[in-house]
Amino acid sequence: MNTKYIDLISQTYDFPQEEFTLNGDQLKFHDIDLMALVEKYGAPLKFTYLPKISENIIRAQKWFQDAIVKHEYNGTYNYCYCTKSSHFKHVLDEALKNDIHIETSSAFDIDIVNRLMEKGKITKDTYVICNGFKRDQYISNISKLINSGHQNCIPVIDNYEEIDLLTRVTDKDFKIGIRIASEEEPKFEFYTSRLGIGYKNIVPFYEDQIKNNDQVELKMLHFFINTGIRDNAYYWNELQKCLRVYTRLKKVCPSVDSLNIGGGFPIKNSLAFEYDYEYMIDEIINQIKLTCEEEDVPVPHIFTEFGSYTVGESGGAIYEVLYQKQQNDREKWNMINSSFITTLPDSWAISKRFIMLAVNRWQDRYERVLLGGLTCDSDDYYNSEQNMNAIYLPKYEKEDPLFIGFFNTGAYQESIGGFGGLQHCLIPSPKHILIQKNEDGSLSTELFSEQQKSEDLLKILGYHGI
Ligand SMILES: Cc1ncc(COP(=O)(O)O)c(C=O)c1O
Repeated sequence: MNTKYIDLISQTYDFPQEEFTLNGDQLKFHDIDLMALVEKYGAPLKFTYLPKISENIIRAQKWFQDAIVKHEYNGTYNYCYCTKSSHFKHVLDEALKNDIHIETSSAFDIDIVNRLMEKGKITKDTYVICNGFKRDQYISNISKLINSGHQNCIPVIDNYEEIDLLTRVTDKDFKIGIRIASEEEPKFEFYTSRLGIGYKNIVPFYEDQIKNNDQVELKMLHFFINTGIRDNAYYWNELQKCLRVYTRLKKVCPSVDSLNIGGGFPIKNSLAFEYDYEYMIDEIINQIKLTCEEEDVPVPHIFTEFGSYTVGESGGAIYEVLYQKQQNDREKWNMINSSFITTLPDSWAISKRFIMLAVNRWQDRYERVLLGGLTCDSDDYYNSEQNMNAIYLPKYEKEDPLFIGFFNTGAYQESIGGFGGLQHCLIPSPKHILIQKNEDGSLSTELFSEQQKSEDLLKILGYHGI
């Protein structure tokens, strides 16, 4: 009987895979020797493998370009990075090695744009697509950017007051987009997204507030489906509804020439993950072209704002199993030396599943376990994989430490978890390592941030100087 962990994984999945390989009984991820990382820095740790960011951007740009050529699509493709998925400088520095643009969601994001501009990492040709509900500071920061001559700054109007607010403080003429409020999937708790303006109201809004406003030029229609770009009836139906609005708008508003289909590309959350990105892009381009031909309007330039897809697959977290508690005949709790709630908050808040694998001891026998975090919150656990409804790991041995890795965790976890801030039960944020590929193909690592210290947390709590 095959009872080793390696047998379980290779019989359940196609293994090894492009990014997951074995070195003896230890796991490598993109050729990163994970145990060497643990030996050098200690666990728990988080890491960012920067080259994956560029790799994903280049792949998507190629797929769009191929579809544009195949369908003789007379428009351009513009890849924007959705900064909210990870605002870190190292992420933007890597992403901006490629020909990309930026999507922002709040006032402070514009300060990041200004810093990048000062450093010459973006130019006035870079599109800055400003989404989100715009309060005073965001309005003011956007208008300063436009007043400074950044003509490719495109605020995407989210509610009926924003044009007025922007024109009051902006001296120059500027371009705008309008966000369509999508209809959510039937299983959702609400029908229409709170973000944007309803389908039926887009053309009347244009007629009422934009058509006779000399200062603004409507350039973009923005469409984002909360559940992402999926090959299902709901997505294609929503895209069709959006394209009907686009063609109707184009007939009364010649300046509109761009369609922003938002973010929402899924990322690999299981070793069994399958998603045909190339087919989806091909079909999106095809459908846009067909609808525009039917309606006899020119096709729009395409913008996307991929967040998870850009940065998600660059990140990982490694924990050590500290101890095993057998709470009854069937339930063994492997306690990790950190917290799921604070370090992978989506695993707790929206039951998101990541790829989880043992880092070492692949030749050992396996057992079924539950994973517990260190906070005293009963919700601080992880109990199943995406397609397995359980967790299996090499058997716990007190004398033979077990390390486990969570992969493709690079999007949203730091900002939602409040990186560097207060943590539940004061369990400190782990250290963070950056990994870069050298010209000769070797990898180099660098400590980005230390594990939080007691003083850091006490200072936030007001104990500073007491
Ligand atoms: C307007 C907008 N664009 C892009 C994104 C990025 O989505 P994702 O990370 O799924 O690509 C979001 C995510 O919430 C969004 O609200």
